[in-house]
Order: sequence, then structure tokens, then C-alpha cells
Amino acid sequence: MTSVSDPISEIEDAAMRELAVISDATQLEAWRLSYLGRKGKLTRILRGLADLPLEQRRSLGAEANRIKLRLETAHREKLARFEQDRVAQVTEGERLDVTLPGPPLPRGGLHPITRTLQDVLRVFESMGFQVAEGPEIEWDYYNFEALRIPADHPARDMWDTLWIDCEREGRRSMLLRTHTSPNQIRIMERTQPPIRVVVPGKCYRFEATDPTHEWMMTQVEGLAIDDGISMADLKGTLAEFARRIFGEERKVAFRCDYFPFVEPGMELRIDCFICRGAGCRTCGRTGWIEILGAGMVHPEIIANAGYDPDRYTGFAFGLGIERIALLRHGVDDIRHFYANDLRFLQQF
Ligand code: PHE
Repeated sequence: MTSVSDPISEIEDAAMRELAVISDATQLEAWRLSYLGRKGKLTRILRGLADLPLEQRRSLGAEANRIKLRLETAHREKLARFEQDRVAQVTEGERLDVTLPGPPLPRGGLHPITRTLQDVLRVFESMGFQVAEGPEIEWDYYNFEALRIPADHPARDMWDTLWIDCEREGRRSMLLRTHTSPNQIRIMERTQPPIRVVVPGKCYRFEATDPTHEWMMTQVEGLAIDDGISMADLKGTLAEFARRIFGEERKVAFRCDYFPFVEPGMELRIDCFICRGAGCRTCGRTGWIEILGAGMVHPEIIANAGYDPDRYTGFAFGLGIERIALLRHGVDDIRHFYANDLRFLQQF
């Protein structure tokens, strides 16, 4: 046990000397314990006071308390400085240099089908067509019946249909539209001629996929109805479209085709822009590429719309955007478009 007669000022001097060279919090705590802790040098002196005669107790007590206060204050100040240093260090480490260039952001882009769709719509808009839209879930009535394709009509085989069970109606009368043609009826129901609209939209077919077939695809329906619209208008409109999309020098040809809602019905072909008519893989060695279906709106449909069939005539067409994108970009498999492989999509 430290004797009470130890020169107390020596303890003070030693403590202050040691403290001056302490450079971290661990050393500082050891120092505190050795002087001010429960078994510390100063604490022991203060405890020993009780055994001293009153006179000595008074003077030594006062002195010891003064030293205790001084050491405690010095300890607190040193601790505060360490904390300040620590905060300064952390702040320095986290300092933000706002002048540094940021990490590059990957640039997104429009899907090739969206881009082709926009280009196609822009061509028709420039010719005075308005853009409209219709539902993807459709009634049998609009998708088939009103288009002159009743339930037992063999033409239903042309569109493999995804049906929706519809309890409320008691029969399967709802479906995912197989083409955008139901919009011909929907538009005629709510407008009067003159009509010039294009209707883009997704269509669905219940079929196995292969390089030229997908179960979902994008079509653009066109409809024009007015006083005295003729085949010449249809030809001119579609030839202009083909040239704007596939090149000024394109030749177009119309061939007979059958769709119950047009009469006559036809398909539009363009001369193959790859082999220029000589015959290649893209055109199946025919020199011609089929790009859409079209025709003059059936007079029965004009009459059903409540328009005077002696006065009004019109044309309609339906084209597949994926097919156009395939041809434009020389892609060999339609399934690439919806496989969501960025290595493919980033090329556009
Ligand atoms: N709806 C037809 C199809 O999907 C295309 C078409 C539209 C044909 C308009 C004639 C007129 O095959």
C-alpha cells in the first residue's frame, strides 16, 4: 500500500508527464485506472486519509482533492481531443469530391418493334390518318362475327384463337384478339365518314412458334371510308407506304387473297430489296415479299355500320410490324424480338 507520506506532488508530476505523451484512447484509459481507478494511486491516498490525525488529514486531503480534480480535468480534455481527431479522420475519409466524373449510366433505347411501329405510324400520319386504339381482350362479335366470320365459317381456321372462359355469358365468347380488324367495326360504330385511321396493337394466336411465327405480334390496321374511295386509293396509299419504309425504288404488286370482311381481298407484295427480284432466301426465290393483307371494305359491313352503301366505299389493310422489322434489319428469327436478350436488342 502506498504510504500516505509519499510526496503527493510527485504523483501529480508523474501523472502529468505520462499523460503528455499518451497518444491513444487505450493508453489513456490505462492511465486513468492507474491514478484515478478504484485501486489507483490517488484513490488509495484519499482512502488512507481516514487513518490520519485531523490536522494532517485536512491539509493532505485538500491537496489530494485538488490533484484529483486536475487529473480528472486533464483526462477529460485529452479524451475530448481524441474524439475530435477521430471524427475529423472519419470525415476526411468520407469527403466527397463533387468534381469527380460519375460512373457512366448505361443508355437505354427503344425496342426495335417500337421503333418500326413508330416509323410506320409516322408514314400514315403524314398521309392524313389518325391513330386510334382498341382492346386486346375482345368479344367474338368484333373479332369474328361482325367481320362476316360466323362460328361455323371455315375462315375461322385462319386464326388460331386463344379463348377466354367467360362464365357470365354462358359461352366462350371472349378471346384475345387475333388481329386488329375488330377495330374496323369499333370505329365505324362511333364515327361517321370520312374516316381515315390506323390502329396499332398487340394480337395473339394459339400457335407453335417458329422463325416466322410468334404467339404474340403487333399489327397496324388501316381503315379509310369516304364518298367514292376506290381501289386506286388503296393502291396509291400502300405503294407510297412501301416506298417510304423500304426505299423509293420499290415496286409493288397486288395479288388476290381472301378475307371475309373485304371484297375484293388482296395481299400486297414488294419486289425483294435484297436480290432485287432475282430470287434469294428472304423472298423464297420468288423475287417478291408479301407484306400485308388488304381489300375494299365489304358492302355488307358498310351497310351494317348504318352508312349508305350506295354512297360510301372504303378500304382496309392489316400489316404485321414484326415482319417489317425482320425484313428491314435482316433478322432471321422473329423469336429474337421477344426473348429479351440484351445482346440482340442492343444492336438496334
Ligand atoms: N386482319 C387480317 C389478318 O390479320 C389482315 C387484313 C386486314 C386483311 C384488313 C384485309 C383487310 O390477317
